[in-house]
Amino acid sequence: MLMYYCIATILLSSLSLSGAASNYESEHCPTLKADFTRRQLNEWSSSTPFTIADGGDGNDKAKHVPVLTISEDGGNFTIVVGNGNEENGVWHPQVASDDPNVVHFVTHIYAEDQDGNVIYMRTLNPQAGEPATITTLVPEGVTELTPYSFCNLHGLWVGDTVSTGGTEQTDRIITCAGSDALEWVEGAWPSVKADLQRQQMVTFGSDAPYTESDSEKHTPFITVHDNGTASILVGSVAGGIHPMVGSADGVEEPHWITEVFVVDDQDNFITLKTLDPTGVEQAAMDFSVPENAQNLTAYIWCNIHGLYVGPTVNVASINSSNQEAGSDETEENANSASEVLASVCSSIVAVLLTNFL
Ligand SMILES: *[C@@H]1O[C@H](CO)[C@@H](O)[C@H](O)[C@H]1NC(C)=O
Ligand SMILES: *[C@@H]1O[C@H](CO)[C@@H](O)[C@H](O)[C@H]1NC(C)=O
Ligand SMILES: *[C@@H]1O[C@H](CO)[C@@H](O)[C@H](O)[C@H]1NC(C)=O
Ligand SMILES: *[C@@H]1O[C@H](CO)[C@@H](O)[C@H](O)[C@H]1NC(C)=O
Ligand SMILES: [Fe+2]
Ligand SMILES: [Fe+2]
Repeated sequence: MLMYYCIATILLSSLSLSGAASNYESEHCPTLKADFTRRQLNEWSSSTPFTIADGGDGNDKAKHVPVLTISEDGGNFTIVVGNGNEENGVWHPQVASDDPNVVHFVTHIYAEDQDGNVIYMRTLNPQAGEPATITTLVPEGVTELTPYSFCNLHGLWVGDTVSTGGTEQTDRIITCAGSDALEWVEGAWPSVKADLQRQQMVTFGSDAPYTESDSEKHTPFITVHDNGTASILVGSVAGGIHPMVGSADGVEEPHWITEVFVVDDQDNFITLKTLDPTGVEQAAMDFSVPENAQNLTAYIWCNIHGLYVGPTVNVASINSSNQEAGSDETEENANSASEVLASVCSSIVAVLLTNFL
């Protein structure tokens, strides 16, 4: 119920603000786009995406270039990275690995409309193999589509713009991927972690994660609850909470916690989550504690400041001192859940208002 009220409030505030420079429903896609541009500049000394002219020699030339085609009925479009369907062509390799020196894949594919808005983005699972590809619906009001691909090793690439045959529509609310399209599927987690270690090495000279002694504000702290769940907060009230600054227009530089993941004593993943900076002021997540869990350790990636590991938490010792888990707390929890939702809703609306006024 509240959710519908919340969505209605957001839609209304966006509608009444038509004509603003950006009209995104969520900041997650433009934030990732702005970060790809930032990385392109940092790693390749120009923020301009590569084109086929940058593709090297011979068969490899087209390997990174995304190619967009529209379905015959005009309803869907497909992006594929490389030209492996042509004679002597090559697909971009999708090499899943937990080894930072081996992992190599197209991590994201996205598409922009005629106004440069990101209207679709998806994270890929390197275990799915080649080619790196997506297929989705052509949104209404979109007349042109331009495909982009991001390779973890070789940066941002753009392909040819294609006309959709659609008709222009002003004052559109730009919907991009749903948040599930930007979550990594479980099969991708080891590769994602390996690539963060690789980036840590390339950017900071060591693949060792930073710790609390480097910056408390970047440290993920786990709190285990007595109902089988745990929460993570990045930073602390005393030491500072890490900001979650997205990019509303895809240009302004974002600074946020992009991923949080939790491992056990054997470095097995418990969970990995991609964080959406839209309307939130802190990086936080909840997860279920597995039944046989002993010690849990959380890691985060800050898009600017890299990989951090938090203090390991011993679940077993917390459980034994916490035997009297209550069963009459259900209603209380439901109430606090709706309070959280209401405050999330009002902060989303507040952010929308401040961004557009
Ligand atoms: C293509 O679009 C149609 C509707 O126009 C849809 O039913 C179909 O599932 C789409 N195909 C893919 C692969 O997404
Ligand atoms: C578990 O307990 C925590 C802390 O009391 C609460 O925030 C959370 O909503 C609870 N989760 C469930 C699934 O009951
Ligand atoms: C800790 O307690 C929770 C909730 O009762 C339970 O789900 C979990 O399995 C326990 N963990 C351990 C290590 O005993
Ligand atoms: C969990 O950590 C404690 C030290 O805090 C250690 O003694 C224990 O062996 C660890 N458990 C496992 C399964 O590694
Ligand atoms: Fe590559
Ligand atoms: Fe940071």
